[in-house]
Amino acid sequence: LHEHEEFTKVKNIATIELGRYEIETWYFSPFPPEYNDSLKLYFCEFCLNFMKRKEQLQRHMRKCDLKHPPGDEIYRSGTLSMFEVDGKKNKVYGRNLCYLAKLFLDHKTLYYDVDLFLFYVLCECDDRGCHMVGYFSKEKHSEESYNLACILTLPPYQRKGYGKFLIAFSYELSKKEGKVGTPERPLSDLGLLSYRGYWTRVLLDILKKHKGNISIKELSDMTAIKAEDILTTLQSLELIQYRKGQHVICADPKVLDRHLKAAGRGGLEVDVSKLIWTPYK
Ligand code: ACO
Ligand code: ZN
Repeated sequence: LHEHEEFTKVKNIATIELGRYEIETWYFSPFPPEYNDSLKLYFCEFCLNFMKRKEQLQRHMRKCDLKHPPGDEIYRSGTLSMFEVDGKKNKVYGRNLCYLAKLFLDHKTLYYDVDLFLFYVLCECDDRGCHMVGYFSKEKHSEESYNLACILTLPPYQRKGYGKFLIAFSYELSKKEGKVGTPERPLSDLGLLSYRGYWTRVLLDILKKHKGNISIKELSDMTAIKAEDILTTLQSLELIQYRKGQHVICADPKVLDRHLKAAGRGGLEVDVSKLIWTPYK
């Protein structure tokens, strides 16, 4: 299914139930035809299987033995955990996650070929289990140096810093791989805002420490942010001048401070010492 075909489709499912939340959907998602006559779908918050009736979900919950996403826990800090789910080993989960995510993503093609992706699922954990907050997907092998394909924070959890956490996490994985990365395009409006915010904060912090004496290449090596993304971010902050055919960073400390104040809060930090992960081979 091509993205332009999906654009024109009318939204089918209006609300979903997921864990303790009832969530209004934003966009069309191509659920199998037998689900298309329902306005509401009931999701198991752990295996992400979906059902048309509440009673079906209740019956399912009595026998579903998952209490967290079906994969390896690769990060835990306080109540926050990240699970890595291999789409090839967990095809049904991967597909369910894509159906769910598409309800909140309008410009993305739905990937049926979940085999090629890893899913990084962020959870808030308590004594009832690990509750999904959001996720990002990542191609196992990307020719275009994409380090993130799709990112989502579920609406009840949005605007609390989880998005920036997921973005930071994707760059920490790239650093461990020793590669630079960039998100797959196009970005949604909210995606662009979140990335701009992340790039701005990370780059300004380093520029301030190094008093501006640093090159784009060095910034890229330190952050795993692709040089083009660094250039556009610094250009939008008017910190780049073009001299003798080269882009140079001009970081007046006063200008840096002004931008840093405007950049707002840093969000939830990724504690790298708690990430236990080796790159996919
Ligand atoms: N209005 C204005 N600014 C916003 C909003 C909003 N509703 N939401 C996020 N932002 C901006 C803010 O600058 C915010 O930082 P601040 O709160 O410090 O001002 C910044 O984005 C990030 O906020 P977070 O709380 O860290 O992000 P959140 O957890 O809300 O997740 C995300 C951001 C993932 C983009 C979320 O909005 C979402 O899931 N949207 C729907 C799906 C989507 O569009 N995904 C991106 C598609 S592109 C791609 O996948 C490659
Ligand atoms: Zn289940």
